[in-house]
Amino acid sequence: MTMTKSTIPVDQLTPDEARDELAALAAEIAYHDELYYREDAPVISDAEYDMLRQRNAAIEARFPELVRDDSPNRRVGAKPSAQFGTIRHAVPMLSLSNAFDDQDVRDFTGRIRRFLRLADDAPLAFAAEPKIDGLSISLRYERGRLVQAATRGDGYEGENVTANVRTIKDVPDVLSGDDVPEVIEVRGEIYMTHADFAALNEAQAANGGKVFANPRNAAAGSLRQLDAAITAARPLKFFAYAWGEVSGGKPPGDTQWEIYQAFKRWGLPLNPLMRLCTSVDELLAFYHEIGEGRAGLTYDIDGVVYKVNDLALQERLGFVSRAPRWAIAHKFPAQQATTTLRDIEIQVGRTGALTPVARLQPITVGGVVVTNATLHNEDEIARKDIRIGDTVVVQRAGDVIPQIVSVVTEKRPPSAEPYIFPEICPACGSHAVREVNPKTGKVDAVRRCTGGLICPAQAIERLKHFVSRNAFDIEGLGEKQITAFYTDGLIRRAPDIFTLQRRDEASELTKLKNREGWGATSVAKLFDAINQRRRISLDRFIYALGIRHVGETTARLIARSYGDLETFLSAMRAIGTDPDGPQFHELDDIEGIGTTLARAIADFFAEDHNWEVIDALREEIEVQPMERAAASSPVAGKTIVFTGGLTRLSRDEAKAMAERLGAKAAGSVSAKTDLVVAGPGAGSKLKKAAELGIEVIDEDEWFRRVGEV
Ligand code: IVH
Repeated sequence: MTMTKSTIPVDQLTPDEARDELAALAAEIAYHDELYYREDAPVISDAEYDMLRQRNAAIEARFPELVRDDSPNRRVGAKPSAQFGTIRHAVPMLSLSNAFDDQDVRDFTGRIRRFLRLADDAPLAFAAEPKIDGLSISLRYERGRLVQAATRGDGYEGENVTANVRTIKDVPDVLSGDDVPEVIEVRGEIYMTHADFAALNEAQAANGGKVFANPRNAAAGSLRQLDAAITAARPLKFFAYAWGEVSGGKPPGDTQWEIYQAFKRWGLPLNPLMRLCTSVDELLAFYHEIGEGRAGLTYDIDGVVYKVNDLALQERLGFVSRAPRWAIAHKFPAQQATTTLRDIEIQVGRTGALTPVARLQPITVGGVVVTNATLHNEDEIARKDIRIGDTVVVQRAGDVIPQIVSVVTEKRPPSAEPYIFPEICPACGSHAVREVNPKTGKVDAVRRCTGGLICPAQAIERLKHFVSRNAFDIEGLGEKQITAFYTDGLIRRAPDIFTLQRRDEASELTKLKNREGWGATSVAKLFDAINQRRRISLDRFIYALGIRHVGETTARLIARSYGDLETFLSAMRAIGTDPDGPQFHELDDIEGIGTTLARAIADFFAEDHNWEVIDALREEIEVQPMERAAASSPVAGKTIVFTGGLTRLSRDEAKAMAERLGAKAAGSVSAKTDLVVAGPGAGSKLKKAAELGIEVIDEDEWFRRVGEV
C-alpha cells in the first residue's frame, strides 16, 4: 500500500482525478483502519491519518455525486474480529469531528448557535475535558452490576471483552447509589499510563514478545487478549465520559455535568481536569492550559473535547453522519521535527528477528532529544521509501517512541539509493528469511536470522534474557558484562554462568579480578549474586529458557500445570520425540496456551542443543517445585466445578475467574473436587457432590468468598 500523495488543490481537481483519488483514499484509509483497530499496530501517525480523512472529506464536499458507498466517512473503525463474540451496541458508538485551530472552534460554536437559533449573547455552556488517547469501551450495567463490556469495533458492533474488563480495577463491578438506572451503558476510555507502558514494553522485549509503539496500542493489545489472565496482569485504567442505552431514556440529570456528578457518586472514575466553560474564550483557554500541562500528565491525551452541556440541546442538535453536532475534538498538533537519517542499523533479537533502527542527527522533539527512531520492518522502509541521507520528519507518537513519519523528498541527496534490507544476518552471516505462515499463507513481516546457535547476537540476547530481572535476576551481570564475557569466550551458554567461579579459581591465566573494570570485591560480589540464584522457582526457570512466545504469564501457567521440573521435563521429552502425541495435546489443552504457543514449545524441545543446556544447568542448580496456585487467594489451589445456570457470569468467564485466582476449574465432580458452585437447574453434579460430601455454594457466595462482590 502506498501513501496517496496528491498535491493538487481540491478546487483544481477534475472529476476524473477526484474519482480516482476517492477510490485510492477509501482503500488507504480502510488499510490503516485495519492496522489500527484490528492489529493495534498503526504504521502512520494520527496526524497523517487525520490528513487523509480531511482530504477525503474535502473532495467529497466538492464532488458530492462521487461519494462512494464505501466512503470512509460512512464508517468508523474496523469490523470486530471474530475471535471474540460480537455485541451489537444498542446505541451506536460514534466518533467526533475534529477542530485543528481556534477558528475551527469558533465555527463550531457558531454553527451550534445558528442551528439552535440562539443569539450570540445567549448563554451556552460546554463541558470541556481532555481527549484521552486510549480505546473506547461500553460498559453495560444492569441493576447496578456490570454484565457486559464491548469495544467500539466499527461503531455498531464491538467485541465482547467482558471477562477482560472485569480484571480492571478502575471499572467497578457494582455501581453504588439509589439512583442508578435499571440499565445503563457507561462509556469511556481504557488507557495505560506512561510508566506502566514502559514497564510492560521492557518485559515484552525481554521475553521476545510484541513491543508496542505507544500506550494506546499497548492498552488495546492488552484488552484484546483471549486470555483474561494476561489482561489482569497488565495495568489498565479507565475514565468515564459518556453513555449509551439508559432505561428511562437518559441518566438522572439535565446536563452533561450533572451526569458526570452522578457517575462519580456511583463510583465511576472521572478525569479530574474536566471543566464547565461558558464561552468560546474559556474553551480556548482550557485548550491552551491543558496543552501546556500535557507533558506533565502520566497518560497520553491527543486533544480536548467540548460537549454542549445541556442535554435537551444535545438532543435537538443530534448527529451528522458519524459524529454528534454537539461535540467536537480539538486536537493538539503532533510533536514533529525534521532531521537527517544518518544510518539504518539492523538489530538482531533473541529469536533472530532483524529489526531496523534509524540513527538520526540528534533533534529535540517536544522537549526530548531524539537520536533513534523505530522503522518497524522492511516493508515499512520500502513503503515510505526511506533512504540513508534523507531528511525525515520525526514524530513522537503517543509522546513516547519516536517514529519516522515521512521523507522530505525535495531534500533528498542525489546519491541516496533505495535501502536494501539485508538478507544475511549482520551478526553471523547466516541467511535471514521471511517465513510464510502455514495457516494464512502470508509472508511474515519480520525477517529472521537462521543462524540459531552460531549467531552471537542471538546468543547474547538469550544470555541477557536468562539473567534478566524476571528470569534468573543476577545482579552485576548486565548487557555490558554479558557482551564482554561472551566475546572473550568466558560465557557462551547459560550453564557457563554457574561454572564461572570454578573455572576462575582453577585458572592459571588472567583471573577475573584482573580484568579491566573488575577488582577482588566486585568479582566476589558477582559470584555471590550467581550463587544466590542456584535455587530458582520452576516458572522463572521456564521463562529463562527463552522459548519463543513464552513470556512470564505463560511460564507461570506451564509451571503451575506441571508442578515440578521432573514432571515438566519428562512431558517435554515425550513431546520432543513425538510432537503430536498425547503429551502435546495435554500441553495444548492448558487453559491459556494456544496451538502456536504449544508448537513453539514443542519446537524448542525437539532440539538437542536445548537439552544439552538444560542438562548442564541441572548439574548446577536446583529448581523448586511450584505451589500449584497463588497462595493469597481464598480458592488458590482448589479444584472447583461450576454447574447449573449462572446469572452473573458465563461458564467460560467463571472458569477464567477461578484460574485467575489460582484455582483449577474442572468439568466434572470427583473426589478431587474441593468446591461446587451451583446455579439454578444444577442436576446430577449436585447430587454427586452431596454423595461425596463436597461443599456446594451459590454464585453470590462465590463472589463473596473471592471478594469480588
Ligand atoms: S465523547 C458521541 N469524550 O475520542 C461522542 N470521547 O474521536 C462520544 N475520546 O471514540 C465520545 N476522550 O475513544 C469523548 N473525553 C472524551 C474522550 C473521547 C477520548 C475518544 C473516544 C472516541 C474518540 C472520538
